Amino acid sequence: MARRHDRPSTEPYATEPYEAGPYASGAYAGGPYAGQSVRPAIELRGVRRTYGRGGETVHALRGIDLALGHGSFTAVMGPSGSGKSTFLQCAAGLDKPDQGEIRLGDEDITRLSENRLTKLRRSRIGFIFQSFNLLPSLTVEQNVLLPQRLAGERQDRARARELLAQVGLGEHAKRRPGQLSGGQQQRVAIARALITSPDVVFADEPTGALDTTTAHEVLGLLRRAVDDLGATVVMVTHDPVAASFADRVLFLAGGAIVDELHHPEPQAVADRMVRLTARPVRVAA
Ligand SMILES: Nc1ncnc2c1ncn2[C@@H]1O[C@H](COP(=O)(O)OP(=O)(O)OP(=O)(O)O)[C@@H](O)[C@H]1O
Ligand SMILES: [Mg+2]
Repeated sequence: MARRHDRPSTEPYATEPYEAGPYASGAYAGGPYAGQSVRPAIELRGVRRTYGRGGETVHALRGIDLALGHGSFTAVMGPSGSGKSTFLQCAAGLDKPDQGEIRLGDEDITRLSENRLTKLRRSRIGFIFQSFNLLPSLTVEQNVLLPQRLAGERQDRARARELLAQVGLGEHAKRRPGQLSGGQQQRVAIARALITSPDVVFADEPTGALDTTTAHEVLGLLRRAVDDLGATVVMVTHDPVAASFADRVLFLAGGAIVDELHHPEPQAVADRMVRLTARPVRVAA
């Protein structure tokens, strides 16, 4: 699968240890998603989410329309309170919108029962959190296999080992998360998010707890999951450099998408953010 865009060799991750590409092994050339239909991986139509009632009403999402293709990497940015987490929670089926629909592939997930939604989340959605959220009592390999275990699927140890090797942790499968650095733990979380070959991987501030160098390694891995495995990634971030690893940045303000950038450069992203923060966009209720 062709790289979506090449980066100048001055980019920090050009020198990191994954230059040969943990996902570039060829094992997934074309990706598990190759040959899929052109239907978007995920689609939101008129999605609204309101908290509270009467005078206390907060319009967290005011009508989001969006389609994200398979094998795309999208960053979501916006000032505090702009609706990023609400967007992610609704899109990932963890929260239900008041209006509108969300389609994951062919499935309208807003119509599903809680039970079916839970099953769908386990097998078709991957999650990466700021705080890694690994289970400390399980080994690294068991953590990676957990989504398959919860989904009642066969636990594919060979695939877990392969994903761990691809994120540079082939030697650490038997360790516990407490014996790993923060960056290593987040790499385990990436392997875990990819184990079921989900339709979409949602990442909420995945580099928020990491230093700059480690953050670049983790972002490089997400980029390669998209380029080489064909994964679809949606990432909320406050960091313009993190956002620049994406194909496209969506800017939220007041619960609406107010701007976007394609092939984002960090400075351009930072400039848009300054504009949004300095002049809060007012959107009619
Ligand atoms: N459970 C809730 N009850 C009431 N209001 C809420 C709830 N969750 C979020 N909100 C409100 O909805 C709006 C959007 O919140 P959200 O958490 O999505 O923002 P955010 O962009 O993720 O902000 P941050 O960058 O600070 O994490 C805010 O005004 C927030 O106060
Ligand atoms: Mg948030």
